[in-house]
Amino acid sequence: MAVRSKPTPRRPDLPLLKLLKKRIAADGPVPVAAFMDLSLNHPDHGYYQSRDPFGADGDFTTAPEISQVFGELIGLWLATAWQSAGRPAPFQLVELGPGRGQLMIDLLRATTKVPGFLDAANIHLVETSQRLQAVQKIALDSAPITWHERLDTVPSGPLLLIANEVFDALPTHQLVRNERGWAERLVTLKDHGELAFSLGEAPPVLLEAVQELHASSPGSVTEVSPAREALARAIAERIGRYGGMAAIIDYGAWVDHATGDTLQAVKGHEPVDPLTAPGTVDLTTQVDFRRIGFAASQGGADVFGPVPQGTFLRTLGVEVRTAALLNQANREQGKRLREGLFRLTDASAMGEAFKVLALRSPTESPPPGFAAPSLRSVRR
Ligand SMILES: C[S@@+](CC[C@H](N)C(=O)[O-])C[C@H]1O[C@@H](n2cnc3c(N)ncnc32)[C@H](O)[C@@H]1O
Repeated sequence: MAVRSKPTPRRPDLPLLKLLKKRIAADGPVPVAAFMDLSLNHPDHGYYQSRDPFGADGDFTTAPEISQVFGELIGLWLATAWQSAGRPAPFQLVELGPGRGQLMIDLLRATTKVPGFLDAANIHLVETSQRLQAVQKIALDSAPITWHERLDTVPSGPLLLIANEVFDALPTHQLVRNERGWAERLVTLKDHGELAFSLGEAPPVLLEAVQELHASSPGSVTEVSPAREALARAIAERIGRYGGMAAIIDYGAWVDHATGDTLQAVKGHEPVDPLTAPGTVDLTTQVDFRRIGFAASQGGADVFGPVPQGTFLRTLGVEVRTAALLNQANREQGKRLREGLFRLTDASAMGEAFKVLALRSPTESPPPGFAAPSLRSVRR
């Protein structure tokens, strides 16, 4: 007798998938940037609102979670710049997108040794996710910190700012070149109700942004993130007006041609399809440091780098600091420290793929470890 196989039970849609499908059915396809924004930041079902993505049991591991040395060196780098600028007091010490708060924990511990630095610092964490704000409040419960959802509400004044792996999570538009010019990549619904990519007319503001890429061949893809450029410009405007320095650290490159399609979804440390389970997977695109560099120079900061993360950390003494910690470490701790050093600095791990872009006030000395700017502020 033939055995009839049971029909596969249809999995009920995830809440964000349901919501996206409803929205697309009602209003039409959405740009990739809007898809990223909803997937990551929806107040109830967005990725950063609904889960803890960090560490070996999560979806990805960031530099501060790999080794305490990362946050310590960033802290001492900022403190050296503060000293060379004449120890302004008070100043705003800001981290954008602090995740579980590990970088700030290590930064604060390292800079207690710099006389006057923390007394002069008003500390601010800018975090869009309410869920992660709650995690950070527990992790940093003894530190005098003010939380914000946006940089705009941080008071004015000299600024020292760090953003590690935040710019890659900001919404990015994708444009695809065809015979007639550039079209925008959208997310739409296929006949049987699944999400799929499609193309639509690109708005004039995006066409203007990619004007210089007119020689790209048909089929080329390029990415533009007005959200990133606006944030880089806002940081630079503060630095230009009040003095200070910022480091933007992320995976990406200085690109002066079409970037290609870099949209990446990750779950459990593995690449996955970006469209099948929005809200449950991390979505990023590589940072185009040229675009944010130009935005920052227009905002009023001198721009240094980008330099590879490995080079930056070696200049700051990552090997010396790791060696000092190894002297006091047990076997297990020693193994973790050595692995951490490798992962942060080696070209086959994060050392080359991740870059550091530094922004500095044009009236102050270059950021420690950097020589001449790659772009000067246009507001001199
Ligand atoms: C990949 S995690 C990096 C976390 C942390 N910087 C680290 O290195 O471990 C991205 C962080 O940025 C936050 N985030 C995303 N978009 C943001 C925005 N527009 N402003 C501030 N934080 C944002 C996320 O909620 C999360 O805390």
